[in-house]
Amino acid sequence: MPGIVIVGAQWGDEGKGKLVDLMAEKADGVIRYQGGNNAGHTIVHGDVTWKFHLIPSGILYSSKPCMIGNGVVIDPVVLTGELDGLKGRGVDLSGLKISANAHLIMPYHLMLDTAGEARLGKLQIGTTRRGIGPAYMDKAARLGIRVQDLLDEKILKKKIAAALAPKKAQLRDWEKDPALDLQSMTEEYLAYGNRIEQYITDTAKLVHEELKGGGTIIFEGAQGAMLDIDHGTYPFVTSSNPIAGAACVGAGVGPLAINEVWGVAKAYATRVGAGPFPTELDNEFGETLRKAGGEFGTTTGRPRRTGWLDLVQLKYAARINGFSHLAITKLDVLSGLGDLKLCTSYKTNTGAELDDFPYHQSVVHHLEPVYTTLPGWDEDLTKVREEKDLPDAAREYLAFIAHEVEVPVAMVGVGPARDQMITMSA
Ligand code: GDP
Ligand code: IMO
Ligand code: MG
Repeated sequence: MPGIVIVGAQWGDEGKGKLVDLMAEKADGVIRYQGGNNAGHTIVHGDVTWKFHLIPSGILYSSKPCMIGNGVVIDPVVLTGELDGLKGRGVDLSGLKISANAHLIMPYHLMLDTAGEARLGKLQIGTTRRGIGPAYMDKAARLGIRVQDLLDEKILKKKIAAALAPKKAQLRDWEKDPALDLQSMTEEYLAYGNRIEQYITDTAKLVHEELKGGGTIIFEGAQGAMLDIDHGTYPFVTSSNPIAGAACVGAGVGPLAINEVWGVAKAYATRVGAGPFPTELDNEFGETLRKAGGEFGTTTGRPRRTGWLDLVQLKYAARINGFSHLAITKLDVLSGLGDLKLCTSYKTNTGAELDDFPYHQSVVHHLEPVYTTLPGWDEDLTKVREEKDLPDAAREYLAFIAHEVEVPVAMVGVGPARDQMITMSA
């Protein structure tokens, strides 16, 4: 009864969606366990590109349960928009299941996200402004509105009124905004409830039953290890736990239900938004890498910051997630870029050398990467389908990663399409 978790090993956008899509084909169900529509997961099937923000990347296998778990925060405006888009493109949504316990992103969460960033000014986090942080704040404050609340007008109105009251002082600029009117908000959200009622269920029970019956469930993570609210580069993080341990909480299973943890990492590194990024290439080469990799955010369109692969960071991610496998994506992007650098330790501003990710924020902000340089390759990799056909230098690059991180590289991406993935020998 395998439970397989797929998580971002860096700062998000590693290609998790593509791997989930690939693995979903052989699995019996997929469940997203955290985050919201701050995520942007791109899947390419032939000539068709799909971009999912909330809907799990397994939705293209229609008959299988494709679940949004209790740990996810759902903006019903985005959810229903995504459902309409999928229906319009002929996707069968009968497998979709939404946890009754998942929390909702409300209009005031979007406003609070924007207001919070404005207040921080130069210190802002660079959030996606999708209301993620404020929605998780309300969840922790026990003021959250849950999916199940959409099914009862009286309860919904009461809960919105209670959640809205303490927000008033923070939302003076929006005081007269009709989006904050209690009655119309209640009505609007009830309408969403009507629309999604058919999908609402106890997803934790469904996952349990699938696993008990010997089925395979993919636990789909969003964001990445370094954006984890506990283990990432706080406060430049998201407001949930993307790491593998959170799959249990966000889907409602025990730790023994997890058999494999796949860390997805790019062959280099990127980050969107503010915060420390030790191997960042804030120069012309970084721009070359951005162009070569098409590094622009799926959700906000922002240019992604680019840098060399950081093996100290990756080793840290392997430790806090317990990776059993690594999937290295976008290896094709490195073709023709000359010698390749990999960060194998850091120098601190006091001259100390570190081979583990430091816990202290002030240290992290001043890290200088120490690099090992490996030869690059010029061959186009996009048509390679077997390990033996990879250039020697590419194989050495992958072997170096596996050796340093102490996790086998099990899959390698050589292009965005689902068949552009190489299964590696053990
Ligand atoms: P996610 O958020 O982790 O699912 O990743 P995103 O979809 O936000 O970003 C990954 C981007 O890289 C998408 O545009 C994918 O289509 C693309 N991609 C994924 N794997 C590969 C690969 O192996 N090579 C190339 N060139 N592109 C890839
Ligand atoms: P996927 O699932 C990359 C970043 C934002 C910001 C920080 C906090 O596609 O990998 P938030 O809106 O979550 O409060 O923003 O987290 N961020 C992501 N970066 N990929 C993502 O998702 C991200 N989701 C959030 O840019 O720095
Ligand atoms: Mg993404």
